[in-house]
Amino acid sequence: MKDRQRAWTMAGLRYTQAPIVVLTLVSMMFNIEGLNWNSPIDHFETFSGGGSVTMGEVEAGRTAVSFDIIHDEVKQSMLTRPGFCNALFWALNLKPGAGKVTAPVCSTWVFMSSGSTKRSRTNPLGSPSSPACQEANVMLCRLLILLMVCSAKGCWWVLEQPASSVMPYHPLFQKFLQLRGIAVRKLYTCVGWFGAPSLKPTHLFSSHIEIEDLNSLARKNFVPRQVENVVHYVDSQGKPRICGGRHLKSSQTYPRRFGRALATIRTSNRRAVQKKAKAFLKKAMTAKTSAADCRPRINNQWIEGADLKPVFTYLSV
Ligand SMILES: C[S@@+](CC[C@H](N)C(=O)[O-])C[C@H]1O[C@@H](n2cnc3c(N)ncnc32)[C@H](O)[C@@H]1O
Repeated sequence: MKDRQRAWTMAGLRYTQAPIVVLTLVSMMFNIEGLNWNSPIDHFETFSGGGSVTMGEVEAGRTAVSFDIIHDEVKQSMLTRPGFCNALFWALNLKPGAGKVTAPVCSTWVFMSSGSTKRSRTNPLGSPSSPACQEANVMLCRLLILLMVCSAKGCWWVLEQPASSVMPYHPLFQKFLQLRGIAVRKLYTCVGWFGAPSLKPTHLFSSHIEIEDLNSLARKNFVPRQVENVVHYVDSQGKPRICGGRHLKSSQTYPRRFGRALATIRTSNRRAVQKKAKAFLKKAMTAKTSAADCRPRINNQWIEGADLKPVFTYLSV
């Protein structure tokens, strides 16, 4: 299985013209002795929190792995070297056409925190002096590398962000969108339509058009309960301000119905997604001219953006 996973992933990465640094990273992962490649999985959820999506997958009879710092501060943190390598292993261990859902930490990307983060559509990287912004930037770039690996095997990935998030304007997110053969869809939905206490308007970015089936399972006649996600106030200089309210943190957990709905559309589209993955891999494996992106400027952007130097050092010892 290891050899097949390696051949598929490398061919897919070359076909999509991913940066060569990602192929190097992947090939180092395959060179690690003792990893078990014989039980590939159907689904991988990163930043899984309450794990509703993973539970939905398991209920549907599929093998699913969740990854979140709440389970292990080192081995399940996207920002540590072992944590990121662990996440990369699970992405590499997905079956072709498998699923991946991810809801990266949004606190520094949303409108509500823009006063302190200085993030905007024209300044998506945010304040260089904000450690929270810098960490979130690294987290995003590492996640995009995982999504490159998923795309290389025709996996159906979904990235969720609140509607006001400027994450998609990050320059490497934009570069990711330009990879060959990746046609990303954006679906507007509301987590409240699936039973969350507040409406929570959201964008789902996805590798597959099938994501559009999700809203057919929504209950759009949502009546919000009394929750306080946003507080409006006036500061000492008389300026109107907003900040997170007492229910904001808990509002990030998906209701069970949201996880089940995602699993349901995965089940109903399983054949079509498998067929697409097979066709994609066939094209990638037989393409005559496919080469990874070797431009130093681009590769350096990914090395810096995802803070890959310490990861390479970790993998080489
Ligand atoms: C926006 S929430 C996602 C919530 C999730 N969708 C749910 O249903 O509970 C982001 C998640 O990222 C996790 N997280 C924060 N920092 C992390 C890190 N460095 N590595 C991995 N997970 C992290 C948090 O614990 C939180 O559960």
